[in-house]
Amino acid sequence: MSDIEQAPPGVDITRPSPARMYDYILGGTENYEIDRKAAETVRASMPDLEDAAWANRGFLQRSVRWLAEQGIRQFIDIGAGLPTRNNTHEAAQAVAPDARVLYADNDPMVAAHAKTLLAGSSGTAFITADFRDPEGLLGQEEAMALIDFSKPAGLLLVAVTHFVPDEDDPWGVVGRYMSRLAPGSYLALSSITSERQPDKAVDTVQAVYSKSSTGAVRVRTRAAIDRFFTGLEIVPAYEGAPAELSYVGQWGADDPDAADSDGSRWGYCAVGRKKA
Ligand SMILES: C[S@@+](CC[C@H](N)C(=O)[O-])C[C@H]1O[C@@H](n2cnc3c(N)ncnc32)[C@H](O)[C@@H]1O
Repeated sequence: MSDIEQAPPGVDITRPSPARMYDYILGGTENYEIDRKAAETVRASMPDLEDAAWANRGFLQRSVRWLAEQGIRQFIDIGAGLPTRNNTHEAAQAVAPDARVLYADNDPMVAAHAKTLLAGSSGTAFITADFRDPEGLLGQEEAMALIDFSKPAGLLLVAVTHFVPDEDDPWGVVGRYMSRLAPGSYLALSSITSERQPDKAVDTVQAVYSKSSTGAVRVRTRAAIDRFFTGLEIVPAYEGAPAELSYVGQWGADDPDAADSDGSRWGYCAVGRKKA
């Protein structure tokens, strides 16, 4: 059967999709030939691609576990991607079985698989929504039913804001989400950076993603990523670390020096708290 015959309704396989490419890089099966080719083109100039993806995925999982340990019981995971092993609800519910997770993504392939994969897991919901529309996303019925906006929540924007161009003001959008959430809520965010990376690899990443369904990837500076945490209290990434951004692999790592790999340095991240 061809890829076209296998694709769920609404899934465009004439262009690579960042969600499906990410799935392929992490060893998943929810991807098509066009995604695999695009990912391999990136890998040819960026040998650390898989390490970078896992370092980012590790940040998501470690930050969710840490947030659950701080008492956070509800999570909003936007740009959730295709569920792979140890998703947000599994990481959170391993600490707090009553934790609830609202997943959102704008990729139809994610929607097609998330609903099946989340069937039977309690305290979860998936909605198709765009990050750039906070009021619309948080106003959806499933969001209102699952999230208690009077209590702190963890907002997860992991490897998603770099698909949003500066012209769409992702910083302002993040501020709108945080203003809707209760004091004591947290933002966990990671984003790809070009700092310290070879120009050729950065150019290839941008060229490949410019032909993808999201249109582009915005490779940002540390200062631009830091701006997402304006008004929030950044927590140290690991014991003894300053309260500032870290590379994705280092956040919450048992051995931050060992985790400071070349792949990890493709992404900055932090967890910031909205003051009570
Ligand atoms: C690289 S994956 C990250 C998945 C997961 N957050 C992680 O870090 O492991 C990026 C995801 O963001 C989604 N995405 C990109 N732009 C988006 C937007 N404007 N609104 C919602 N989701 C978006 C893509 O469909 C994809 O699933």
